[in-house]
Amino acid sequence: MNQGENRIINLLSRALPVLLFSLLIVLLSNPLFAGEYHSSSDENTSGQETLACAQCHTMHGTQGGVSLLYQGSAPNGTPKLLRATSILNLCLYCHGETNPGAIDDAGRVPPQIMNNQMDYIPSAGDFKNRGGSSTLEGNRHSIGANVSGTPPPGYTGTWSDITARYSTTFNCLYCHDQHGNTNFRNLRYSPGNPSDDSRTGPNRVDITYKYDSSADPDDNTKDVNYWGGYANVSPYNKFTRSRVRFRRAPLDNDSPKRGIAAFCGKCHVNFYGVSGDANMGGTPAGGGTVGFGDNNIGNPWQRHPVTDIDLSVASNNNLHADLTNWGGVASKTRYIDPTSESVGDDQPFCLTCHYAHGGGNPNKSTTPSLDHTNLVFFDGAGRVNLDPNFDTSTGRIRNLCEQCHNQ
Ligand code: HEC
Ligand code: HEC
Ligand code: HEC
Ligand code: HEC
Ligand code: HEC
Ligand code: HEC
Repeated sequence: MNQGENRIINLLSRALPVLLFSLLIVLLSNPLFAGEYHSSSDENTSGQETLACAQCHTMHGTQGGVSLLYQGSAPNGTPKLLRATSILNLCLYCHGETNPGAIDDAGRVPPQIMNNQMDYIPSAGDFKNRGGSSTLEGNRHSIGANVSGTPPPGYTGTWSDITARYSTTFNCLYCHDQHGNTNFRNLRYSPGNPSDDSRTGPNRVDITYKYDSSADPDDNTKDVNYWGGYANVSPYNKFTRSRVRFRRAPLDNDSPKRGIAAFCGKCHVNFYGVSGDANMGGTPAGGGTVGFGDNNIGNPWQRHPVTDIDLSVASNNNLHADLTNWGGVASKTRYIDPTSESVGDDQPFCLTCHYAHGGGNPNKSTTPSLDHTNLVFFDGAGRVNLDPNFDTSTGRIRNLCEQCHNQ
């Protein structure tokens, strides 16, 4: 060993205890953290412990002669030194129908996302496939299927760019960044176009969030608020549907675009837009008369509004949306909720009607092939179809629509 190396080692051995101590202070003084758990580098603003590289990657496949692989016995063509037999299987080792339980000293438990059995209603829904018409077209987002020939409905880009980047098997990386980023749930900045998927790219979508371990953070400058403990706390934790609120109303001139609808719109391009866009219809906002609706002059709606139209504007212009009824609904569907006190500024968006992962129409137990489109149904008692107590005899899609429309 030369002198230079000796000096470095000396320095390290003096600096290390100081570093470890500072880390401990940070950990103790700041017990909260959120989506940063999957991020390993500078996106992690909390300075907290995160997943270790070694929980997903292995350098040789064994340590102490013991296999480190979650499935299989030797690395067999899995990309990027992953511990599993595929990217999807890696995520499902922790997030599947069973999971390894607490995976770190803090006791964090991975939320289940295939067929949730942890006794809470997951915000994103689930991927449980009820056996649709074919394996390719599962009744949720078709995780595990080869989607090279099935671009998202409404997509306008070059789909082979996606399948080449993340594999032809529809997997979690299509929507989530495995190494974490600054968005809510590490959602990609540009899921429909890998070359735009950067923290600074002009075509990105930002989904800002605020998390609190115990109380509703109530911050409408952020796109999403959520609160609560780890996934093993039931029925309410930070992944429970009623603990995730969508707060900031996206603005037409937001640049970059913000919020979940813009995120979905990166793949389902034609289904997303502001009022007045050619693919959407609706009279342009800013001109003073939005929501002409019934009048059929100008540019009537051609697709359901998903951003920038609130209940009061719609009600005022054509008495179409029913603000009074909406104000009285006890178990409301999801909506953008800028102020808790006012119902007039509430806006519909994609998750008003759909689950992000999936959640089929359970009415058709005999013909599950009809269970498409991940729709949110309500039963007579105001329970959603993902609720294990959902009553199929009163559950209908119209119970959803009639929260806002008096048809
Ligand atoms: C070694 C186990 C493990 C593996 C493997 C794993 N996760 Fe996770 N993941 C977790 C845990 C634990 C949490 C919950 C952290 C918490 O409660 O703070 C989590 C949380 C998440 C979240 C929510 C983050 C947030 O903002 O709250 C997403 C999204 C996610 N994982 C996606 C993935 C994807 C995609 C993969 C595969 C590339 C994957 N995970 C693989 C353990 C794992
Ligand atoms: C939750 C699991 C998970 C964790 C934790 C994780 N990785 Fe990855 N990593 C992946 C997956 C999945 C891929 C992508 C495979 C692909 O695209 O083919 C990947 C890809 C990579 C790549 C290839 C380039 C890229 O970004 O696609 C490198 C290098 C890498 N990881 C290093 C690391 C390092 C270093 C750490 C720790 C600081 C780490 N990873 C933590 C799952 C993980
Ligand atoms: C990475 C691209 C991508 C993103 C982002 C995306 N989807 Fe999809 N979506 C697809 C693909 C591919 C399909 C067709 C294959 C399938 O059914 O899974 C699809 C299908 C659907 C379907 C029809 C499902 C069925 O079985 O008929 C609905 C509904 C849907 N998406 C809603 C959404 C919503 C809501 C969001 C935002 C939370 C979203 N999608 C985000 C790629 C995407
Ligand atoms: C089509 C895009 C899409 C795909 C594919 C996708 N997710 Fe998600 N995921 C989302 C969105 C959007 C949310 C937030 C939805 C919400 O809060 O309602 C989310 C939320 C989550 C959460 C938080 C738990 C919850 O119920 O909100 C976890 C964990 C997660 N995803 C893991 C995964 C894993 C693992 C995979 C692959 C098996 C995956 N996701 C595939 C879009 C996707
Ligand atoms: C959270 C509230 C909400 C829910 C739930 C909802 N909508 Fe709407 N809908 C609106 C708003 C707001 C408008 C804009 C009305 C306007 O501009 O006059 C609208 C517009 C419409 C229009 C066009 C009306 C026009 O005058 O041009 C139709 C049709 C419609 N919705 C049908 C439905 C159906 C069918 C469902 C159930 C699948 C549904 N909506 C669920 C809020 C909602
Ligand atoms: C007012 C409720 C409502 C809203 C808001 C809504 N959808 Fe839908 N969506 C539906 C219904 C109902 C269907 C069934 C087909 C139809 O009626 O057009 C559907 C079908 C779909 C499909 C399947 C299309 C196909 O060809 O199989 C996709 C994809 C989809 N929606 C994505 C989205 C996205 C992305 C957003 C937000 C940008 C969104 N939806 C907003 C109610 C809604």
